[in-house]
Amino acid sequence: MTRTTEHHIDMNETLGNVPASRSGVAITPAHRHFFRALPKAELHCHLLGAVRHDTFIALAERTGAPIARSEIDAFYTRGEKPVGVLRVLRALDEYLLTRADDLHRIAYEYLQDAAGQNVRHSEFFWNPTGTVRVSKIAYADAQAAIVAAIRDAARDFRISARLIPSIDREADPDEAVQVVAWMKAHRADEVAGLGIDYRENDRPPELFWEAYRDARAAGFRTTAHAGEFGMPARNVETAVDLLQCERIDHGYTIVDDPALAARCAERGIVFTVVPTNSYYLRTLPPEQWAELHPLRRMAALGLKIHPNTDDPTLHKVDPAGAWQLMFDHFGFGIADLRRFMFNGIDGAWVDESQRAQWRTAWAAEFDALAAALP
Ligand code: HPA
Ligand code: ZN
Repeated sequence: MTRTTEHHIDMNETLGNVPASRSGVAITPAHRHFFRALPKAELHCHLLGAVRHDTFIALAERTGAPIARSEIDAFYTRGEKPVGVLRVLRALDEYLLTRADDLHRIAYEYLQDAAGQNVRHSEFFWNPTGTVRVSKIAYADAQAAIVAAIRDAARDFRISARLIPSIDREADPDEAVQVVAWMKAHRADEVAGLGIDYRENDRPPELFWEAYRDARAAGFRTTAHAGEFGMPARNVETAVDLLQCERIDHGYTIVDDPALAARCAERGIVFTVVPTNSYYLRTLPPEQWAELHPLRRMAALGLKIHPNTDDPTLHKVDPAGAWQLMFDHFGFGIADLRRFMFNGIDGAWVDESQRAQWRTAWAAEFDALAAALP
């Protein structure tokens, strides 16, 4: 490996190890401070995708998991054509998480890391089906542990957070109905709504209409991973029109359906996009990755996009890095980032008075930070 290559990887460590920027935008230390300090919401992050590398090792040692240290290190290595992280999440359920306290630990550590990046509010996903069926931790205990971590982190790090129990779409749709039944039986203020994730291929959103109907009827908010992995815009349409989702996670292929995009723009639906998404890093030519990435066109179509980390420790990205990528790779300016910040507030599942307060306070902070840029 040449020195240049080493340097390239070092520089990209918090930027998802993505192709070097060709935009010509210069990043100074003042910019780095700006991306870190700007007040952020995070609306698309998976609890199991945010486990620290050393915590993964410690849990594996405690449980005697049949995963070699080299394999763990490979999980936490991001190649130039990343294979995706879903198998790592499955390994966590299967071997590492054995008691509710483990969930408290990873949630508390995630929120500590996020707060260190000036994430003021996080809404993060957790898949109860794997926890209950595979890790054999009861729903009530698991949710209580995560909610306790949210309260502890609020006290210790001044970050607010909400939990989004998320459907494992590779499991039977009846399991999704069960997730909503658990949510209804164990209500907590911090448990805001329902999501769905895992492999979208062959698992379109309509399979899960019943769980979404029940969630809405019970007063939960709703979002869905749709239009990821190159799956059709139709899945976004189904999530919006049939499941009646208020937010969409990813949603990239909506660029293939401008009429649908116009409707979503009109309705102000927030799209939580992920600059380090594995599918596009794998399938677009590296030298054109930033240029051809659909999230650019989503913004041009008037959609309310908001940048997120998704699986930060596995993607080798942090919130500051995700925002920096929008600026130095994807061609957005400081005024665009300001709009994205407001999109995050608009999309947050908190009451309107809280959103109004954030709009005022965060705008003032953002403007003061932006004024200090070269
Ligand atoms: N997509 C689908 N499933 C996931 C993701 C994602 O971005 N992250 C964790 N599970
Ligand atoms: Zn995701």
